[in-house]
Amino acid sequence: MDSIRFEKNILVLLDQRLLPIEEIYLEYSDWRMVANAIKEMVVRGAPAIGAVAAFGIALAADELKDADTASFFSGLAMAAAGLKAARPTAVNLAWAVERMLKVAKNQIGCSPSQIAEILLTEAKQIAQEDREVNKKIGDFGAELIPDNAKVLTHCNAGALATVGYGTALGVVRSAVAAGKKVIVYADETRPYLQGSRLTAWELSRENIPVTIIADNMAGYLMKQKKIDLVIVGADRIAANGDVANKIGTYSLAVLAAAHQLPFYVAAPFSTFDLTLKTGEEIPIEERCETELTHFYGKRIAPEGIGCYNPSFDVTPANYLTAIITEAGIIYQPTTEKLQSFFKEAGHDRR
Ligand code: MRU
Repeated sequence: MDSIRFEKNILVLLDQRLLPIEEIYLEYSDWRMVANAIKEMVVRGAPAIGAVAAFGIALAADELKDADTASFFSGLAMAAAGLKAARPTAVNLAWAVERMLKVAKNQIGCSPSQIAEILLTEAKQIAQEDREVNKKIGDFGAELIPDNAKVLTHCNAGALATVGYGTALGVVRSAVAAGKKVIVYADETRPYLQGSRLTAWELSRENIPVTIIADNMAGYLMKQKKIDLVIVGADRIAANGDVANKIGTYSLAVLAAAHQLPFYVAAPFSTFDLTLKTGEEIPIEERCETELTHFYGKRIAPEGIGCYNPSFDVTPANYLTAIITEAGIIYQPTTEKLQSFFKEAGHDRR
């Protein structure tokens, strides 16, 4: 499945708002429309919006390629700000945009048109790296999945949320590829239903057994010993290992601890934000109230009712059994462990 493609100067995105009912691809040649597609959740999932924003910068550079150098860079800065503002919690978005800007600034002596070409190559590189990184996360994580495991996941941290393969679902894919039997329970993930619409869709296409449950059923299943472990993705991980992910993740972590079940987070380096000491500093997106008051366009709550719709929550690091990254597994993460892990991996992720 190629939910993000770049063909003949056009960015092609699978419209995730319509899945699983319709499979429609939309085309983008203007960075403003790309920013809007991220905001409106045509594409969602932290690594996916990072890669798409990188293509947005490449489109902006192409639009500005005949300008003088000063106008090129000021136009690029405007596009960067517009793309970064599309969604605040997933740090992969800012990470990808900053990486693109850095590459642009490093091209001393090149014309805007040459820089535009280099930026397109860089966006393609970010997309390609994401696929490779997810495969590595999957292969490290597969070791943690026993044969016949019953795995609970939340939201969609799969191929649709990345450029391909997925993080949490990448771990499931790798375990299945290694010959293990895995049964996935997917939280439906209110209010946007990434679990019942997207996780269920992508796993069932590959014949990986998946059963959807409403979010409030997880504790009961754990009590019934129907779950062996929980695995989720992440939108931003602070320096101490606190994890922001889809709203409801924190409740699952607490439930997993109460039932002595392992709770794993699968995430690439691009999801770490070591500039933030703890998860308290992570900005949490609030989405519109119609996600709560309406269902498929039909009102389900009384007119004028109060609504609170935070899209993410923060799970304190002490609830995590481990974080699975492309360079290996960090057990019971702490600030010190993360620091030495990144140092050993030779990676400067700040
Ligand atoms: O609001 P969404 O659908 O973008 O939220 C996505 C999540 O919370 C995912 O779990 C996270 O981005 C990790 S995706 C590999």
